[in-house]
Amino acid sequence: MNAETAIRGSHWLETAPPGDPAPPPSGDLTVDVAVVGAGIAGLSTAWELVRQGREVAVLEAGRVAAGVTGHTTAKLTALHTLVYDHLRRTRGPEVARLYAVSQTAAIRHASEIVDELGIDCEWEETAACTYAEDPRRAGALRAEAEAAREAGLPAEFVTETELPFAVAGAVRVSGQAQFHPRKYLLALTDDLRRRGGTVYENTRVVGLSEGEPCVLRTDAGAAVRAGEVVIATHYPVFDRALLFTRLSPRRELVVAATIDEDRAPRDMYITPERATRSVRSAPYRDGRRLLIVTGEHFVPGTGDAEERFARLSGWADDRFAGLTFTHRWATQDNDSTDSVPLVGPFHPGSRHTYVATGFGGWGMSGGIMAGRLLSDLINGRAVAWDHLYDPRRLAPVVREGVSLLKHQAQVARHFLGDRLSHLTGPAPDDIPPGHGAVVRLGTRQYAVHRDESGSLQAVSARCTHLGCIVSFSHAEQAWECPCHGSRFTPDGRVLQGPAVRPLEKRDIAE
Ligand code: FES
Repeated sequence: MNAETAIRGSHWLETAPPGDPAPPPSGDLTVDVAVVGAGIAGLSTAWELVRQGREVAVLEAGRVAAGVTGHTTAKLTALHTLVYDHLRRTRGPEVARLYAVSQTAAIRHASEIVDELGIDCEWEETAACTYAEDPRRAGALRAEAEAAREAGLPAEFVTETELPFAVAGAVRVSGQAQFHPRKYLLALTDDLRRRGGTVYENTRVVGLSEGEPCVLRTDAGAAVRAGEVVIATHYPVFDRALLFTRLSPRRELVVAATIDEDRAPRDMYITPERATRSVRSAPYRDGRRLLIVTGEHFVPGTGDAEERFARLSGWADDRFAGLTFTHRWATQDNDSTDSVPLVGPFHPGSRHTYVATGFGGWGMSGGIMAGRLLSDLINGRAVAWDHLYDPRRLAPVVREGVSLLKHQAQVARHFLGDRLSHLTGPAPDDIPPGHGAVVRLGTRQYAVHRDESGSLQAVSARCTHLGCIVSFSHAEQAWECPCHGSRFTPDGRVLQGPAVRPLEKRDIAE
């Protein structure tokens, strides 16, 4: 296993870097629709609405397509590991069919947009495969192939793939795609602006009052009045329907290495084995491709990412041999308790607020699907699959009972247990440079970080979302909350919601 001298971060951000940031609103404003979040779901929704003549403002806490969307593996597929057999069993074959139709329509729609706008985003039509090496999983793969076929996908069960190792079986679906997500979304953003839409960056939304109009409040104090509001912040930053009880955050690691063209897989692969392994390749340079391998998922704020990165690189090098690693990054997904995204009206009483979340690891097709679905709902158009994704769906909650309880038990364990486990934490003097730890001084818990120069800085260890205790990730130099996945810089600024407020500064001499 080789590594280029400096391992870089996200390949997508490196090869389509952000330009100058668009400024926040200079004062209050009024628009038809405000979209909160400029990832693939928010931008897709905004673009559809602008194209339909709506006046739209997109409000992004950071930079366009630089959050979760800038750290994805960018597979556009309707084959989502083993979802069809699950849906067929839990919600029936018609729901599985609608899922396949809606996700396939999203991929086709993205392909039409690429053609229409002439976007150079490394679009490659390819097949998607879910595979297993363990023969005991072959039955599940056969069942998935059958369910996916029944749902209308061109799925087949195969035992041979182009991978350089044997598999016990795989579901293969042709006619899927992979692309460069930032090149696609930056072009979509340019087109949105050309058509009169506005994107505000470095603009964190911290308040929402629902009404006619709805009023959003930004961190700089501007009021944004909008007839309709879409919350597309990955994990919703407002939660009127207690969606946090139905979403589990999952952090996932990505390593990338250069590989000769003739050894690079052309299809996209995923296996649920070994805490997931996902493989695709992308165009690189000098006649080589980039092998992108994802896996080792875990709850944010739990355990050592460094060890997991090593395990993932080790697996990739073992399977593909002689790789030169160039990049590594991490992404975060939110799994819904019934494995179906939550896209539609925000809560049972909502008239003008909408949400898009819970895409699991499938936010590319899911985000584009959400854009079309939400723009149709806002325009009062009927959609055949709106009930499938409706966040207000109640019946599945009964079926989701076990996962709901499991998730809530896990949150409760962190909420209470983490307070007790830090009763005997390290002293500030024990924290080495580049590390952080939760320290108890008197009755308070502090999140203390020592930078490379040796200076200590302290912030409150209580997450500003709902008060769970954060934990430090040395590999990613961030405080992470295990309850709903909020992330913060070492000095407490929000990197990722649902939290919208920074961890409070603390003086450890106090
Ligand atoms: Fe919910 Fe921290 S993210 S308590």
